Amino acid sequence: MNIFVTGAAGFIGSAFVRHALAADAGCSVVSFDLLTYAGNIENLAGLDPRRHFFIKGDICDRTAVNEALPDDCDAVFNFAAESHVDRSILSADDFVRTNVLGTQVLLDAAREKKVRRFVQISTDEVMGSLPENSGESFTEASSLRPNSPYAASKAAAELFVRAARQTHGIDTVVTRCGNNYGPRQFPEKLVPLMIANALNDQPLPVYGDGLNVRDWIYVDDHCSGVWAAFEKGRNGAVYNFGSRCEMTNLEVVRSILDLLGKPYSLIKFVDDRPGHDRRYAIDPSLVERELGWKASVSWDDGLKKTVQWYDENKPWIDGVRTGEYRSFYKAVYGMDLAK
Ligand SMILES: NC(=O)c1ccc[n+]([C@@H]2O[C@H](COP(=O)([O-])OP(=O)(O)OC[C@H]3O[C@@H](n4cnc5c(N)ncnc54)[C@H](O)[C@@H]3O)[C@@H](O)[C@H]2O)c1
Repeated sequence: MNIFVTGAAGFIGSAFVRHALAADAGCSVVSFDLLTYAGNIENLAGLDPRRHFFIKGDICDRTAVNEALPDDCDAVFNFAAESHVDRSILSADDFVRTNVLGTQVLLDAAREKKVRRFVQISTDEVMGSLPENSGESFTEASSLRPNSPYAASKAAAELFVRAARQTHGIDTVVTRCGNNYGPRQFPEKLVPLMIANALNDQPLPVYGDGLNVRDWIYVDDHCSGVWAAFEKGRNGAVYNFGSRCEMTNLEVVRSILDLLGKPYSLIKFVDDRPGHDRRYAIDPSLVERELGWKASVSWDDGLKKTVQWYDENKPWIDGVRTGEYRSFYKAVYGMDLAK
């Protein structure tokens, strides 16, 4: 089996490549990634070169995509994206380009090369925000109500995937997952940002009152969900993945400080993110029933593994908390990153 994974040098894409190689001994992977600020070739280090091949390229570049996509490809997994809400608030252009145009370019190439299945990696954020303490959860029937430019671009991509299936008969599956955490996540996202700052005894910037709720899932559970959707999902289906782990941002930050033995006084509340979604919660009953998938990593175990990875990989963090990241940090949090 041959698969083509875009965004493979990113956080989830790289975990997925490792998952796919382990899940099917006969599987060969072409990883395709532009290596933007969020992509890191080190994330793919140590893979068997007989089964894994990396190509640097842009999913918006038709020629590059057509050349890289194998002729006998069983599946495209589209993880490539601009993925950070805060950056989409500063400027949405790259989000429209990569997340929307890039997805369409991949769909066209998949049609041309008769790829067996197109798997689009989407997000729960396309469904907007849920009322606090309502007990309500997102299901596959929830409406698309994106609130950030990032979420809007991911929702638009889903619609192009749907249109490709309806119009051209491409076999498609869309996966929507909650907030991932785990090793190798770029430290602009909540969990690695807080771990990296706490390790350096720097203030931990928390938006607003810190009571925004997210539904957390360990990255390997997300990857096994995407694999299950590829193997067993219905053509045209949308599947929501979550691990029934709702937590406020403040609870997340406090768990990190507890694990590292650092004081809560490091927490610094900052102005809220504009349009900040209040609550996400996912009902994973459909995937549990239909795909036989279930999250297997608890928050406590997953966070321990994550904190340990960052603690043992300080050069990886130091290598990415440089240059442009420092200007971005200042623009978003109004404070300098000391180290
Ligand atoms: N992180 C989460 O919590 C989460 C949750 C649900 C869904 N998702 C989705 O999962 C996917 C992966 O997320 P992530 O957190 O790993 O993101 P990430 O930012 O860590 O990685 C994105 C990768 O895409 C690559 N990329 C960006 N633009 C590209 C382009 N034009 N051409 C080729 N490659 C390009 C980057 O170099 C990077 O390696 C995204 O589609 C995201 O929307 C993420």
